[in-house]
Amino acid sequence: MIVLGLETSCDETAAAVVTDAREIRADVVLSQLDDHTPYGGVVPEIAARAHLQHLDGLIRRAMADAGIGFGDLDAVAATGGPGLIGGVIVGVMTAKAIAAARDLPFVAVNHLEGHALTARLTDDVPFPYLLLLVSGGHCQLLVVEGVGQYRRLGTTIDDAVGEAFDKTAKLLGLGYPGGPLVEKAAARAANPGRFELPRPMIGRPGCDFSFSGLKTAVRRHVEELGGRLTDADRDDLAAAFQATVAEVMADRCARAMRLFRQAHPQGGALVVAGGVAANKALRARLASLAEREGMPFVAPPLRLCTDNAAMIAWAGIERLRRGETDPLSFAPRPRWPL
Ligand code: KG4
Ligand code: ZN
Repeated sequence: MIVLGLETSCDETAAAVVTDAREIRADVVLSQLDDHTPYGGVVPEIAARAHLQHLDGLIRRAMADAGIGFGDLDAVAATGGPGLIGGVIVGVMTAKAIAAARDLPFVAVNHLEGHALTARLTDDVPFPYLLLLVSGGHCQLLVVEGVGQYRRLGTTIDDAVGEAFDKTAKLLGLGYPGGPLVEKAAARAANPGRFELPRPMIGRPGCDFSFSGLKTAVRRHVEELGGRLTDADRDDLAAAFQATVAEVMADRCARAMRLFRQAHPQGGALVVAGGVAANKALRARLASLAEREGMPFVAPPLRLCTDNAAMIAWAGIERLRRGETDPLSFAPRPRWPL
């Protein structure tokens, strides 16, 4: 089975060709970073126009990279939500047009399901597994029992973790997008233990997250420094923030692992997914936790953690294998919980 996948839900325009033999035949991503940087964040209207401008060209490139024509495709999958509605409409309408013209099945993929199933594309991870899904809009611990079967153990009660990275980067004057810039600054820190930050939720029962207090604490440090940060202040604060996030994540995951094992004593892996899973300090912290707990740890390659279309094509394949497709009347969904 050869499937074309499209991703247009945020600020990456992406097209990919993936087979049911877990082969990524093409995977192209165009970041709109330069379009949004002057505004310090993603501007939905600019994003929608940029998707419209670039998607056709990216599809042509993906098909050429894969060395196939539209006649070789078995289905088309596109992100159907959740996300910025203008962008989602562009991807869904394009996929429907190809499906209609070529008489192919169409699959509308939940973007979060795309992240959630990525580890099965890259590492052939069997169900069930424990998933830490950490992106710009989400922060959840889920038991993935099967395709479409997700049991939530915890979620954030305020900001998503990627959002906390982005807001902290803004407070530190690092710019946008926050996650990778905070990671770079933290790696430069000469004195990473200099600032003390609160560690929200650590030791609390349950598996929920909270990040707004952490962000406020960073703001207070910035104010105490008179609002003018030296490069060293900035790097040390970024390191403190990142280390605290990793600690909080490890604490929440340790609890979730216990719950997971009660339900599935025969085992399963700890999997991370979503843009924040590209963070190397976080990956290292979770890898050591998993090792201590005797649980396999799976983290997809960095480029498949951040938004891409290979994960959308793959989630489409997982749905198609179960005989599931969507009608061309499918309406894009700005909100779509897993
Ligand atoms: O999954 P994703 O690409 O888009 C969404 O579905 O949200 O995640 C984007 C988020 C952003 O908040 C970005 O700052 C964060 O992932 N991110 C990172 C890193 N790379 C991306 N956060 C921490 N460290 C990184 N290296
Ligand atoms: Zn995403």
